[in-house]
Amino acid sequence: MVSEIIANKLSNARHVAVLTGAGVSAESGVPTFRDAGGLWAKYDPQQLATEAAFRADPDLVWRWYSWRRQLIANVNPNPGHFALAALHDMFPRFSLVTQNVDNLHQRAGSREVHELHGNIERSRCMICEAVFHGDEAPPGEHVLQCSCGGAIRPDVVWFGEQLPEKELRFATEAAVDCDVFLTIGTSGQVYPAAQLPLIAKQQGGAMLIEINPEPSALASMVDECICSPSGEVLPRLLDAIKAAR
Ligand code: OAD
Repeated sequence: MVSEIIANKLSNARHVAVLTGAGVSAESGVPTFRDAGGLWAKYDPQQLATEAAFRADPDLVWRWYSWRRQLIANVNPNPGHFALAALHDMFPRFSLVTQNVDNLHQRAGSREVHELHGNIERSRCMICEAVFHGDEAPPGEHVLQCSCGGAIRPDVVWFGEQLPEKELRFATEAAVDCDVFLTIGTSGQVYPAAQLPLIAKQQGGAMLIEINPEPSALASMVDECICSPSGEVLPRLLDAIKAAR
């Protein structure tokens, strides 16, 4: 499953950068977006994941995010998340960038997780930008108001919104600098995140490795694909790197 070429390349890498997507949490029981039966097959993102949707029906949007937050609170990180946390200390530099909002990398012990699409455990006032964590956040059905009078929204990136500038800058710089870039569990359809593997390959000359049971939109540009679930591949990758050293 993990070829000698990949194990050798990784065992000698100076800087490994990783981009994860919803697929890395699939084996934990968190639904992906674009697979058959994924969230966007059942729900319309325009009605749930845009600022216009929130302004039109904040309670509906809150109910949907509360449901997702509850679902995530009831699952656990899988062996893929744990392997990524263990990989952190194995290279001179390791950069973990995620499109996921589910906190599962952090719960598996990953330090320095760079979140491009926010975090579902956080909420934020739309006027004064005050941030609320976990239990401070609105627990359920109804939209809450900040003490300044502003509506409180989930602190995630919605369609049509800018990504957090600092995290995107970090991710772009990591893509340029790394010598191996792993794209894991993402369909590669959402920009600017989907641009990062291309930047790594074209600007940084990195080896691009994909871990995904299905070919993604990035498939034609990757150097190597390990076409199996990340919860199976990543622990083996970890073992293969240890064995190659
Ligand atoms: P997608 O749902 O678009 O893609 C999930 C990918 O995971 C697919 O390519 C699957 O083949 C793959 N996959 C499924 N099970 C897997 C497994 N066990 N191991 C590895 N891969 C697996 O999710 P993302 O690419 O993360 O944005 O979607 C990107 C963004 O689109 C999300 O962050 C979200 C969504 O709209 C926002 O909400 C802003």
